[in-house]
Amino acid sequence: MIMAAWRAISALALASVLLADADDTHAGAVKFGYSGSNSPDKWGSLSPDYRMCSKGERQSPINIEKSKLAYNPGLEALERNYVPASATLVNKGYQIGLLFDKNVGTVLVDGKNYSLKSVHWHSPSEHTIDGKRFPVELHMVHMSDNGKIAVVAILYQIGRHDPFVVQIERKLKELAKEAWKGDKEAHIPVRVVHTRSLKLHSSKYYRYFGSLTTPPCTENVIWSILARVRGMTEEQVAALQAPLSQENRNNSRPIQPLNYRAVQLYHESRKHNEDSH
Ligand SMILES: *[C@@H]1O[C@H](CO)[C@@H](O)[C@H](O)[C@H]1NC(C)=O
Ligand SMILES: *[C@@H]1O[C@H](CO)[C@@H](O)[C@H](O)[C@H]1NC(C)=O
Repeated sequence: MIMAAWRAISALALASVLLADADDTHAGAVKFGYSGSNSPDKWGSLSPDYRMCSKGERQSPINIEKSKLAYNPGLEALERNYVPASATLVNKGYQIGLLFDKNVGTVLVDGKNYSLKSVHWHSPSEHTIDGKRFPVELHMVHMSDNGKIAVVAILYQIGRHDPFVVQIERKLKELAKEAWKGDKEAHIPVRVVHTRSLKLHSSKYYRYFGSLTTPPCTENVIWSILARVRGMTEEQVAALQAPLSQENRNNSRPIQPLNYRAVQLYHESRKHNEDSH
């Protein structure tokens, strides 16, 4: 009974963290950043609400060592059913993101649907692969009906135009013109965001249990990191950084200890081979 009530309260608290961006309740949250007195090593002491940032033992991001991946035949394809939708482009000063106005669709994780709520970018990447850091990482934040969070991450190297960012390039320039003045979040409506490139089939991904990579660093987040690194032009990377405040242009949280966790591997062709034997 008490546990159920507690779970309901935690779910509500999480919901408010993720949805706060829609209104201005976020303005009341304690400020944090990526350098100086608000830098990641101090997050845990900035507010009691942020204590998991220093006390948590299942934090994100992590370095993924390919030689230590545990192939898990029980994992399923990351089925994503997204539709085009309207959204709001948000500059929080420390992060650029898109908040979807309505239901965009779901990802199926362990037989359960999680709805896509928002996407945001970090640069350079937060997760590293065998110690390698990439120029950009996209986080697609999903939530289940009972408040559980699942994030799907995509890593980008310098290359061709990313078809997802192309859609908001003009709006990013508008955001950059206003520049971050350190007070209020800037919001720009985007009439239609096409989500086709976000749901491209993935034959391989890495799965582990971690946390949000920004305060309050909430744990029990299910991470799925797509193994295929995608491309983005240098101009696009710069466009995603330009609207941020100067001291938060590098908005990548340092690597957190793996502790007793294992990173699992989903590999489609291996799964098919084993299924047919
Ligand atoms: C998940 O959502 C998809 C698309 O909305 C739906 O077709 C499917 O039946 C749902 N699956 C479960 C397990 O709820
Ligand atoms: C950005 O921050 C990360 C994590 O704190 C650090 O490892 C990296 O060297 C920094 N990168 C740049 C380009 O400053």
